[in-house]
Amino acid sequence: MTPIGIDDIELATTHHVVRLDDFAEVNGTDPNKFRLGLGQDEFSFPAPDEDIVTMAAAAAAPIIERSGTEGIRTMLFATESGTDQSKAAGMAVHSLLELPSQMRIIEVKEACYSATAALQAAVGIVTRSPGQRVLVIASDVARYELDTAGEPTQGAGAVAMLVSANPRLLEIEPVSGLNSADVDDFWRPNDSTTAIVDGALSVTAYLDSLTGAWNDLQTQDGPGIDEIDRILYHQPFTKMAKKAQVHLAGLTGAVLDTEIVAGAQTASASDPRDTGLAASTLYNRRLGNSYTASLYAGLCSLLDHDSDLAGRRIGLFSYGSGSVGEFFTARVVPGYEQHSHRETVTAALDARVPLSIDEYRALHATELPSAEDVSTPKVTAGPFRFAGVTGRARVYERS
Ligand code: CAA
Repeated sequence: MTPIGIDDIELATTHHVVRLDDFAEVNGTDPNKFRLGLGQDEFSFPAPDEDIVTMAAAAAAPIIERSGTEGIRTMLFATESGTDQSKAAGMAVHSLLELPSQMRIIEVKEACYSATAALQAAVGIVTRSPGQRVLVIASDVARYELDTAGEPTQGAGAVAMLVSANPRLLEIEPVSGLNSADVDDFWRPNDSTTAIVDGALSVTAYLDSLTGAWNDLQTQDGPGIDEIDRILYHQPFTKMAKKAQVHLAGLTGAVLDTEIVAGAQTASASDPRDTGLAASTLYNRRLGNSYTASLYAGLCSLLDHDSDLAGRRIGLFSYGSGSVGEFFTARVVPGYEQHSHRETVTAALDARVPLSIDEYRALHATELPSAEDVSTPKVTAGPFRFAGVTGRARVYERS
């Protein structure tokens, strides 16, 4: 069977960053609450002329530059933070990147899970037409109300992936474990720019979904825990990946690494297996939550920081509140390390401009007027910008 999977991947984020040490100081909180308690150091925050489209286009542009557009007839744009009730955000990306007209473009939604649905749909399209390639983009701005428990877990980022036959990075395996349950753990009503969340319920719903998806994977004759070399989780905050790993270890009886900081694992009589937990959380500690992109930012981090992945099987757990969970597996293609983006991702994270907490709070509170034309100030140093609203339509341009 022709292998199908991720041929190329890119991560992009915002112009600004909020440092949780600054946040802790202003709020009178112990900084270790964030560093250790949540496993987060910073979160990305969009400038007024950035949104899910500008991040998505910035992530997809280098892929198109490297690979061209031949065979790309579909773009699947996964997001929780859509900018319009009707028009797919991917239409603006299509325009900014001057992609061919002979394409179908849609937006996919189910909280943080939808990028995985998009990825599986892309695999299906390429299975039917192996000459085609599919552009999958996950892009989100995670926003909670100010002064809530969710606030320090905000963030923003986009991951673009090119799905093809004979991929150069990851071959996606056909079996996956699924779990759906109607639960109100996290959602965002149509008239709200911030998510509503029951934090404690969201954590247990995530872990219940992991149980359901893992058990289904086993029922479907998927690989057992000893046949999986690395494990990636959706990371709303990186400590959640640790909680998930402890939960999976309990479910399977396996002895797995549980430290999200490299080198923090203490040696014991039964040394835990290194499943890449620390390597896969390095980017997310700095991005914050990027909803649909978060699991795939974890994948970028693992690919860029683990030099022993060739031929290894990765398990990926995708979770979207509401809720859908999927546990699927993939094999890393030898030679993957030649496509590392570690330097560019690290440079982009380092280049973000810090906001003071006052500046951040003012930006957070800014809302676009709903009925008037508006131009946004030129702030972003990224390649694309959200220029404003004309006649109630959003306008984008190259920076
Ligand atoms: N030093 C070290 N650790 C500290 C500390 C300190 N000084 N102070 C507190 N902590 C630890 C606590 O012990 C706790 O650890 P455990 O989780 O291991 O028990 C941790 O910091 C968190 O502290 P709290 O229990 O006080 O919880 P909180 O009020 O900070 O809220 C939260 C945590 C509920 C996750 C909140 O951040 C939230 O609502 N986040 C948004 C929802 C979310 O991300 N849910 C995750 C699952 S849903 C999902 O995955 C979808 C999605 O993307 C949203």
